[in-house]
Amino acid sequence: MQNCQEIAAGLFYLGGNDRRIALFESAYPVPRGVSYNSYLLKDEKNVLFDTVDNAVGDVFFENLAYALDGEQLDYVVVQHMEPDHSATFARLLERYPSVTVVTSQKAAVMLKNYFGFAGKAYLVKEGDTLSIGKRTLTFVAAPMVHWPEVLFTYVPEEGFLFSADAFGTFGALAGNVIAEKDVFAAEYLDDARRYYFNIVGKYGVQVQSVLKKAAGLKISMVCPLHGPIWKDDFAWYLEKYLAWSAYRPEEKCVAVFYASVYGHTQNAAEIVASAAAAKGARVRVFDVSVTDKSELVAEAFRSSHLVFASTTYNNGIFVSMEEFLNDLKAHNFQNRAYAVVENGSWAPQAGALTDGVLSSFKNMRRIGEKTTVLSAVNEESRAALVALGEAIAEDLR
Ligand code: FEO
Repeated sequence: MQNCQEIAAGLFYLGGNDRRIALFESAYPVPRGVSYNSYLLKDEKNVLFDTVDNAVGDVFFENLAYALDGEQLDYVVVQHMEPDHSATFARLLERYPSVTVVTSQKAAVMLKNYFGFAGKAYLVKEGDTLSIGKRTLTFVAAPMVHWPEVLFTYVPEEGFLFSADAFGTFGALAGNVIAEKDVFAAEYLDDARRYYFNIVGKYGVQVQSVLKKAAGLKISMVCPLHGPIWKDDFAWYLEKYLAWSAYRPEEKCVAVFYASVYGHTQNAAEIVASAAAAKGARVRVFDVSVTDKSELVAEAFRSSHLVFASTTYNNGIFVSMEEFLNDLKAHNFQNRAYAVVENGSWAPQAGALTDGVLSSFKNMRRIGEKTTVLSAVNEESRAALVALGEAIAEDLR
């Protein structure tokens, strides 16, 4: 049965929630589920903005039929081709064979490659407009946010911005599809940060470029393809995006990441954490062998100061820390202060190797020299770890 909502006069939310999915994109745990959003804008011409994942296809088609209320579907704007949005495109064409597909040149190629779509698409590019009656669709190119074909659509008469994946988040919706800042900050922000940095984070330059275009628009409502719709509190969320996409730390705080086999490297990491906290720093500590990589990536981007502590393993960095560092590199991590701690029982190597990786990123600044523990922390290495924690707290101030 349909469960759509009219979120503004003539604008309907048609999406649905998947709370059974374990891994989004087969990579990211989503214990709070995810929503797949789609919108219908009714005017002299009726326009659908994107379809949905197969997981919510049935309720989406019921919502669409209900919202159309017997009227024709004139256009479907395909803003993003990733299958969590386009998977039901072929079913849409079967049900609405006369619909005109409006999309970018790059997406048209993908429609052919994914679905064998051989119809004639109405191709649009940056700045093109399409009148649908009282309203106009204005298309904004958003390449690599986070695929190359992505379009945003702006409706100037109403100030609606359909923003594809941008401003989305993990986390299913709970009845209210409109974002409330305080609820979002408490219940969604960690997931939104994790979503941004793991899905889009590599493309900060491209996000900045599209945010500059959006800055010139009068926006009343932002309609993303995941998560809640933004109205009054959008400026607050936009500030997060401005910081995130510029690779600016969101918080002046310390994230301590450690990889420990028998607990001695953990002990070293926690001594650094305690010393920094004793000097007033806000500190979070993560065992990289336990915490999911997507959360580690998000916490690294969130924090201004980072500590990486790894035992030496097979003459290298411990495997879970090495995977984490590779993940940071893949996401274009940069612009942070960091410190390195290593452990090794006969030939410590992890510190130099970790430093080599981190110093290859842009705008990285090391605090102190690498601190070495030989097997277990002793009085001498403890003093060095305390000094390191205090130096980090001092630098943070
Ligand atoms: Fe939500 Fe890039 O797909």
